[in-house]
This record gives sequence, structure tokens and C-alpha cells, in this order.
Amino acid sequence: MSGSKKRIFIKTFGCQMNVYDSEQMANLLRPMGYDEVDEAAAADLVVLNTCHIREKAAEKVYSDLGRLRQLKETRAEKGETMQIAVAGCVAQAEGAEIRRRAPVVDFVVGPQSYQRLPQMLKGEAGPLATDFAVDEKFERLAKKRAANSPTAFVTVQEGCDKFCAFCVVPYTRGAEHSRPADEIINEVRALVRHGVREVTLLGQNVNAWGANSEDGWGLGALIRHLAQIDDLSRIRYTTSHPRDMDEDLINAHGEIEALMPYLHLPVQSGSDTVLKAMNRGHSMAMYQKLIDKVRAKRPDIAISGDFIVGFPGETDADFEATLQAVRDIGYASAYSFKYSRRPGTPGAGREDQVPETVKSERLQVLQALLNAQQLEFNNSQIGNTVPVLFDKKGRHDGQICGRSPYLQSVYVQGPASLIGKIASVNISGAGRNALNGVLDQEAFVTA
Ligand code: SAH
Ligand code: SF4
Ligand code: F3S
Repeated sequence: MSGSKKRIFIKTFGCQMNVYDSEQMANLLRPMGYDEVDEAAAADLVVLNTCHIREKAAEKVYSDLGRLRQLKETRAEKGETMQIAVAGCVAQAEGAEIRRRAPVVDFVVGPQSYQRLPQMLKGEAGPLATDFAVDEKFERLAKKRAANSPTAFVTVQEGCDKFCAFCVVPYTRGAEHSRPADEIINEVRALVRHGVREVTLLGQNVNAWGANSEDGWGLGALIRHLAQIDDLSRIRYTTSHPRDMDEDLINAHGEIEALMPYLHLPVQSGSDTVLKAMNRGHSMAMYQKLIDKVRAKRPDIAISGDFIVGFPGETDADFEATLQAVRDIGYASAYSFKYSRRPGTPGAGREDQVPETVKSERLQVLQALLNAQQLEFNNSQIGNTVPVLFDKKGRHDGQICGRSPYLQSVYVQGPASLIGKIASVNISGAGRNALNGVLDQEAFVTA
């Protein structure tokens, strides 16, 4: 172990699971003397934690590597060294090919093998680690997580066995794997001791958590146990698959106060033909039924979703079915994408690809509808008093920002001392992306 101080810069692309992994990479390297900095220029080690989900995401990596090559050369002229590691899902998908295409890269580590970085940096292991060593990964990760925010992500489930016809995740993150409950509970307890008030449980199929566990616990049971931790005020989870949304988890939404009234449940398309072609394993009627059940337990729950337009073979009528589904469900927020052809996935090989112009038109129409629903949902909060967990300073002096139970950003004028606390806010204004409010003087701080 080297005692000398070094600087590490980590750039994170993609989903929240990558955010968690980046934090864990920093934790792993800290004992080797690496301190995190916020720019690449002065770093001794630059890590790109990458995403392979859509073509654009993957392309960004190579443009970043081009810039880093110049930086590395400039540093070398000054006699300084800069090492570059590519981590994440592009690393997994492209492996050794990355070093052939971009020789500037020193190390390549996949999402289930980055725990080997310390050995690689010490020269005790080769430059490439892309096996699916998920048990080893969680064993080696820092057991005590420091926290610098009142909210934290905790990965509880890795990988995916669903093989949707458009998606790379089963190939880049490997098979579904659930972390043991006691390990998760200990990690959450440690975070709470550091002042964390809200945890978001993460997994690409988070609600499949526990599927193969011996004690029969599902995500609902895990949430019930976590809810008993003193001072943990809020629990969220993302991302769920409709096929794994069981009764216990649905009931938890009606019973557990700490479980926030927000459900991100991607549907992708409203057309049964497209859902079948996507290999989603659920119909639109099944999805609607799930939403009805959750709303019966928790009527105010905010529903969020993911949509893909222009999957191969999608007709105008199929797209219209998606619009109708959105009108029927009513989304508080959503993410929508043009279908991106991903190498190695079944969708990529189909000959009935939808033209780019049609995809763009459909995306525009869908986003207009989703944006209008989001604004309507936010407007419906005006006049309400909601508990807000403040987690950062706002955009102006004297302003702080937090989240409502429905995951809306809420801005108020207030003291920075409220950061890390939950306070009641009277909502006075709304836009599509955020709410404004005034601190409720009577019920000032609830925790
Ligand atoms: N596990 C989650 C999310 C997976 S990735 C789920 O099952 O829903 C996040 C989102 O990216 C997906 O929900 C999907 O909407 C989108 N996505 C995945 N692959 C894509 C592709 N090839 N083209 C466009 N969007 C894609
Ligand atoms: Fe991808 Fe489908 Fe798995 Fe989600 S469920 S990660 S969309 S394959
Ligand atoms: Fe991207 Fe991998 Fe997450 S492909 S969305 S970083 S699991």
C-alpha cells in the first residue's frame, strides 16, 4: 500500500447503479492514497464509468478517450504520468477491444469486476477484468460507507435474466443476483449512522430481489425490515419490472410509512404486439392491472415509466396504443427514448427497422404528452403542504433544495442548517421540473 497522495477523477455515465459503483470505486482506492478531484486535468488516475444502453451513450466514451489521450501526452511531456481506466458496461461489452481501439487506456474493468482495480494498479493483476465475479465484488467493497449527503443509493440486486429484445443489460451486468439481506441491512445501518435519511435500493430488476433466497424474502420483506431502522425516514427502490411486482410489495405501499409513494415501473410500449416482440413477458392489460392494484393501496402514488418508440416493426397503430396507454395510466414523470440498435441483441438483427425520421416524430409526440402530464401532476401539488427532505443548496443565495415524497425537486428560501432534515413546505408554484414553496413555520422541522 502506498502512502503517497494521488488524485483520482471518476466520470460517471448511465444509470444510478453506475453512480453507486463509482462511489465504491473511490472507496476502494482511498486506502491506496487516492483522493477524488473534480477534473481530469490534474488527476493521476481517470476512470470513465461507462454506459452501453444506447449507441450515443457508448460513443461518448470514445470522444472522451480522444480528449484524454491529448491530456495524457501533455502530462507525459512534463514528466508526469496519468493512468486511464474504462469501467462499466462499455468495458464489459467491448473488453480488450477498447485497448486495441484506444491504446491510451491502461485498464478495463467490468461492472462485476472493478473490485480488482487495487491489484491492477499495483501491477499484481493484468490490465483486463471482465468476469462476472459479483459475490467477490460485494465481499471486497467497503463495508463502512461514508456519507456526504442525506440520501444514498444501495445496490441490492445485480444483473438481469429477462432478455428484452432491445436491451444490453443481461449481457453487460450478467445474471440476476441478490445480495444477502443482512449485508444490505448492515450497509443501510452504517449509512444512517452517518446521517443518511433516505435510501434508494437499486437493481436493474430490483423487485426480483430475493427471488432465489432460501428464507423466501422478497423486496417487500426487505423494505419492512429496513423500515424498522431508527432515523431512516424514507425508502425508495428502482428499477422494477412488471413481472416481478408481487402482492407483498404492492401491499407494502399501503402499509409502510417510510416507503415513498413513487413507483418507477417501465412499460416500454402500450401495444401488445410490440410488447411481445420486445419479449417483455407482460401485456398492457397486466400492466394496467398492477397499476390499479398499487393505486388501490396507495391512491396518491406517483407513477413513473420508461418508453421506447420505434422498436422494429412498430406501426402507427402500435404507437397510438402507447399514447392511449399514457392517457389511461397518467404519469407523474417518465423517460422516453428512440429505439437504438444494440449489437448482439435480437432487435438489432431485424429487417423491419423503423426509419430515424419516424422515430423522431413519434418521440416528439410522446414527449409532449408526457411533459404535459408531468406539469399537470406538479401543478396539482400547489396549495398542498408536503414534507421535504432537504439535501442541497439551491440555485440562489439563501435557497435550499430537497425532494417531496413524489421525488419532485422542491426549492425554498431557508437556512442551510435544514440540509439533512425533513421540513414541511407549503407548495406555491410549479414548473415541469420542480416545485417552489415556502417553509411551513408552524410545523417547522419534523425530524
Ligand atoms: N431494467 C429496467 C431498465 C433498463 S435500462 C427495465 O427493465 O425497465 C433503462 C431504460 O433504457 C429502459 O427501460 C428502456 O426504456 C431504455 N432502453 C434500453 N435499451 C434501449 C435501446 N436499445 N434503445 C432505446 N432505449 C433503450
Ligand atoms: Fe433490459 Fe429488459 Fe432486463 Fe430491463 S428487464 S434490464 S429492459 S433486459
Ligand atoms: Fe447503462 Fe449499464 Fe446502467 S448499460 S443503464 S450503465 S446497467
